[in-house]
Amino acid sequence: MLNYKNFPFLFILCFLFGFASSHVRTEKPIKDIIIKCELCHGTKGNSTINEDWPKLAGQNFNYLMKQMQDFHPSSKHRRKNAIMSSLIITLSEDDKIKLANYYSNLLGSIDTAQTHLLSLGQRIYRGGDSKGVPACLACHGPAGLGNPPAGFPRLSGQHARYIVTQLKKFRDGKRNNDKYQMMPIISKKLNDIEIIAVANYISGLYF
Ligand code: HEC
Ligand code: HEC
Repeated sequence: MLNYKNFPFLFILCFLFGFASSHVRTEKPIKDIIIKCELCHGTKGNSTINEDWPKLAGQNFNYLMKQMQDFHPSSKHRRKNAIMSSLIITLSEDDKIKLANYYSNLLGSIDTAQTHLLSLGQRIYRGGDSKGVPACLACHGPAGLGNPPAGFPRLSGQHARYIVTQLKKFRDGKRNNDKYQMMPIISKKLNDIEIIAVANYISGLYF
């Protein structure tokens, strides 16, 4: 019942509520953050609009956490990308954990590999080559599922164009966040055709 005697109490309540919402950092529900990620990484983490935007679905937790941390401008092993950095600085550590949990539990889709250069790509992925390129499967797994405890990324089904871009960035020193320098060393031994071939093979790789 509204009664004039209740007014001071209601006034205090409103004041406290207003105070709380303007001065205390309230946590955003994770789904409000995911809506932003979906603009580029697609619904349920399988990006479809632009092949330079990686799929996140089914990627392992440790790798996702590391990449989100690396995009932060103050990270020791910084991964430079203006869009990702501007988003990451708005996230708390807890948001990152929730996002990595969400994306690692989704089902990753597989692209269709082209037959052109397929056998060269398969050879490199499964056996490496005589110039000292190690077999990619040693770390990324025979079906491209990565090594989740070690945080080696899943590659299975990833867009070929994104993989080509990343291998060239490692090779040209534009992606420097591999703390043991494995990928920069490996990619320097690959020429452009080999990069296209192995990326094409990976895009269609699954169990
Ligand atoms: C405007 C587009 C855009 C939006 C929005 C966006 N991303 Fe990205 N994201 C990218 C691009 C482009 C890359 C690849 C950057 C590069 O080339 O290094 C990327 C890379 C990533 C990677 C690394 C993937 C890998 O395989 O290494 C993660 C993790 C990631 N984004 C998470 C997120 C999360 C979480 C959100 C939401 C908070 C988000 N992104 C929002 C465009 C976007
Ligand atoms: C000795 C282990 C090892 C081997 C062998 C290896 N990789 Fe990697 N690779 C890694 C690690 C570790 C990362 C993650 C680096 C980081 O933290 O960003 C990675 C990252 C990548 C990425 C970036 C994935 C993404 O989502 O952005 C691609 C693409 C890749 N590797 C392709 C290859 C290919 C192709 C081969 C074979 C020619 C290969 N790798 C061999 C360890 C390895």
